[in-house]
Amino acid sequence: MKTDLNTQRVNYDAIVAGAVMVGMDLFAGMLRQAQARCQTAVWVQGDNAAAPFADGSFHYITNQFSYPHVQNKPRFFAETYRLLQPDGRFVLTNIDLWAMPGWAIYRYFPAAWALDEQDFWPVEQLVEVLAGVGYGRVSYTHQHIPVPTRLADFRDDAAARHRTSQLMAIADADYAAGLAAIGHELQAMGDTAVIESEVCLITLVCEKFKEKNEWTILS
Ligand SMILES: C[S@@+](CC[C@H](N)C(=O)[O-])C[C@H]1O[C@@H](n2cnc3c(N)ncnc32)[C@H](O)[C@@H]1O
Repeated sequence: MKTDLNTQRVNYDAIVAGAVMVGMDLFAGMLRQAQARCQTAVWVQGDNAAAPFADGSFHYITNQFSYPHVQNKPRFFAETYRLLQPDGRFVLTNIDLWAMPGWAIYRYFPAAWALDEQDFWPVEQLVEVLAGVGYGRVSYTHQHIPVPTRLADFRDDAAARHRTSQLMAIADADYAAGLAAIGHELQAMGDTAVIESEVCLITLVCEKFKEKNEWTILS
């Protein structure tokens, strides 16, 4: 079996023939969107930190772009370990806030950084907690992506506030201040101005060993 403990960004191309896919999310609205995107998976409403499945139900679990939203992260990681068969694998992918201070969102909306700091863990903390719940080997890779961005395009994206969860989470006054700062820079630099931005993805691969006799951390 294969599951995304959240919803849409399962790598459908990687589906093993014959595998049963199960996707889970806390909210019915998100599950409706996921269902529309993938009808071959079984979609289940539930909490990552108290998943409604028996021990050892899955060969592979993936979580993409949602661990920062989960309130009880240690409990969630322990659940992935419980749900995997021995020799199972858990893969977590997300942006790594700590490796992308130059993201344009953080530059113009510093309140978003202040909020994300509370929800995103540094990689050392992720590795420590994942090893602590039992994983025999935890390795991780970073993919750093420079993103030169037309400031006018960025302004248009930021103006569609709902597209970026960071912009939905900050106070209206902080959002308005960021939009105004972009507007001032555009006036000063002109409509064709290009700014440097960046994104950094982190992927952690966690192996559940048959025997709990050894653990390794690789980077
Ligand atoms: C940014 S969305 C990512 C969704 C999807 N994985 C994707 O990549 O598009 C974060 C998701 O985490 C879900 N979520 C937050 N806390 C959760 C929990 N405790 N259990 C299950 N899902 C949770 C939210 O409902 C939301 O759908």
